[in-house]
Amino acid sequence: MIKLGRNDLCWCGSGKKYKKCHEAFDEKIIQFARQGHIVPSHDIIKTPEQIEGIRESGKINIAVLDYVAERIKPGVSTEEIDQWVYEKTTQMGAIPAPLNYCGFPKSVCTSIDEVVCHGIPDKNRILQEGEIINIDVSTIYKGYYSDSSRMFCIGEVSEEKRKLVEVTKECVEIGIKHVKPWTFLGDMSEEINKHAMKNGYTIVREIGGHGVGLEFHEDPFVCYVAPKGTEMLMVPGMVFTIEPMVNMGQPDVYTDEEDGWTVYTEDGLPSAQWEVTVVVTEDGCEVLVY
Ligand code: MF3
Ligand code: CO
Repeated sequence: MIKLGRNDLCWCGSGKKYKKCHEAFDEKIIQFARQGHIVPSHDIIKTPEQIEGIRESGKINIAVLDYVAERIKPGVSTEEIDQWVYEKTTQMGAIPAPLNYCGFPKSVCTSIDEVVCHGIPDKNRILQEGEIINIDVSTIYKGYYSDSSRMFCIGEVSEEKRKLVEVTKECVEIGIKHVKPWTFLGDMSEEINKHAMKNGYTIVREIGGHGVGLEFHEDPFVCYVAPKGTEMLMVPGMVFTIEPMVNMGQPDVYTDEEDGWTVYTEDGLPSAQWEVTVVVTEDGCEVLVY
């Protein structure tokens, strides 16, 4: 961190003097760092303009998911869902972030039943009554990234799977409630994990949430099995996703060696995920993308 003079212009770009802007904020962060905590660097703290950009991008992300929600049903292929996402996103003047991201071949991730995440849309994969699917949409609009996903139950699904989907959604809602500035990501994660465990479920350890906004994946990595008091300090202006992957059985997962993307549960039992993007505010958080 470069030490600014009190009368210098603040690093945040507000145009105000440092002493009237983020000086006290930085001192607070330094206190936490001295106590050995992981603290955010300035470059992951968003300005009000950047937050507005992410909010606008998020509106498109939500519209795309709503568009999918109106059409998804048994008999549809995951390739068709990919086409809907591509069409709706580009019609709205935006870019689907997954397309060509690190070589990902499609515009959206479609993850069915025991697929945990990063499922690749495929014309031969037809949705069947009784399946549960995660649709993970990410959008770039005017350079700003937003990211959210929802679960859909295809026709009638078993009570067991329906409950997994519901509890996973509750985990995200509990997470949202526990985002508070000057507390830790682990404080939020512990509550999410407790709720999953209470219902007999487990949470995937290797894959988690992430900072987002100016890039698809920014710091911090957001782990949902971390205990209270650990992981990064949350401060106003930080933007990240809450996206726990909740398994009906064991937490272990593996990645398909052939396609290099699709992540499965090791035990073959179903997994569910919901994802939102939040910004930490002065007294909690605002959900930018649901
Ligand atoms: N949307 C996913 C996330 O939440 C990332 C997908 S990466 C992709 O982080 F390349 F598969 F799209
Ligand atoms: Co994400």
